[in-house]
Amino acid sequence: MKNLSLAVALIGACVLAPAAQAQEPIVIKFSHVVAMDTPKGKAAEFFKKLAEERTQGRVKVEVYHNSALYKDREEMEALQLGAVQMLAPSLAKFGPLGIREFEVFDIPYILDGYEALHKVTDGPVGAKLLKLLEPKGIIGLGYWDNGFKIMSANKPIKTPADMRGLKIRIQSSRVLDAQMRALRTLPQVMAFSEVYQALQTGVVDGTENPPSNMFTQKMHEVQKHATITNHGYLGYAVIVNKKFWDGLPKDIRDILEQAMKETNAYNNEIAKKDNDDAMEGMRASGRTEFHTPTEAERKAWVAALIPVHKEVESRVGKETIQDFYKATGQQP
Ligand code: LMR
Repeated sequence: MKNLSLAVALIGACVLAPAAQAQEPIVIKFSHVVAMDTPKGKAAEFFKKLAEERTQGRVKVEVYHNSALYKDREEMEALQLGAVQMLAPSLAKFGPLGIREFEVFDIPYILDGYEALHKVTDGPVGAKLLKLLEPKGIIGLGYWDNGFKIMSANKPIKTPADMRGLKIRIQSSRVLDAQMRALRTLPQVMAFSEVYQALQTGVVDGTENPPSNMFTQKMHEVQKHATITNHGYLGYAVIVNKKFWDGLPKDIRDILEQAMKETNAYNNEIAKKDNDDAMEGMRASGRTEFHTPTEAERKAWVAALIPVHKEVESRVGKETIQDFYKATGQQP
């Protein structure tokens, strides 16, 4: 009798097991445009690992690096349509969604380092900005740092006057357009995936990027000169499709939220060092000549770019700009 019940139990287990196994995991497609070996690429992999381990396989995160799935503009559309569930676009790329306030991050010299940045992104000003995404069907899960931008070209660009007439690739931000026009250049919006080739073939003369992006895309191999202006910031907001996120089982969403919190901290710990290492790597390669502005040159860059703060007020919103000044304690 004992044997019989054991046999029944075993048969039952065999019948039930495949059904349990057949339960499909929840798939999160995470698309982004930079290399895996960048702060964003590494953070995406970090999140994948935490999410998959802690949900014991109930969630599968598919990370697509380097524009492998979608380019800049396409990925925003894909998120809204639900074709991907998670992105971390640069803060300069939210304008096309109809949210102009994020372009405040692009204003030259509005953030003078990571400390000032974190006063915004870790505080109420950062949270208020993320809330603006919700009416667009998007939830902001936090900010991921990258770094401060340097200016590059195929001729020496020690002062703003050297920039005059150059064709410069920018991200799709009107503030960056205003910034480049203030330098008397011809800004050209272009998807990140196309920049290397455009620099190589001379479609554009130069660009701006944090060292980590420049190095991992090998832009230093096709730019002879760069000036360490640190004139502006480039970083990200991690975003998800709201319908997808709200529809997750609560226990899963809680695990993912905690995993994302830890990923945010991880990303923001590695971003500065990654950029410092990228700078070293580019210097060691000897392909680009790097110029550090003298005090007089730095003042000339600041003087050329500070008027952009006022100029973009009507686009970004006076209140948002004031929020930044107050949070950082810095105002030009
Ligand atoms: C760029 O287009 O230059 C950046 O936004 C790429 C990125 O995601 O860092």
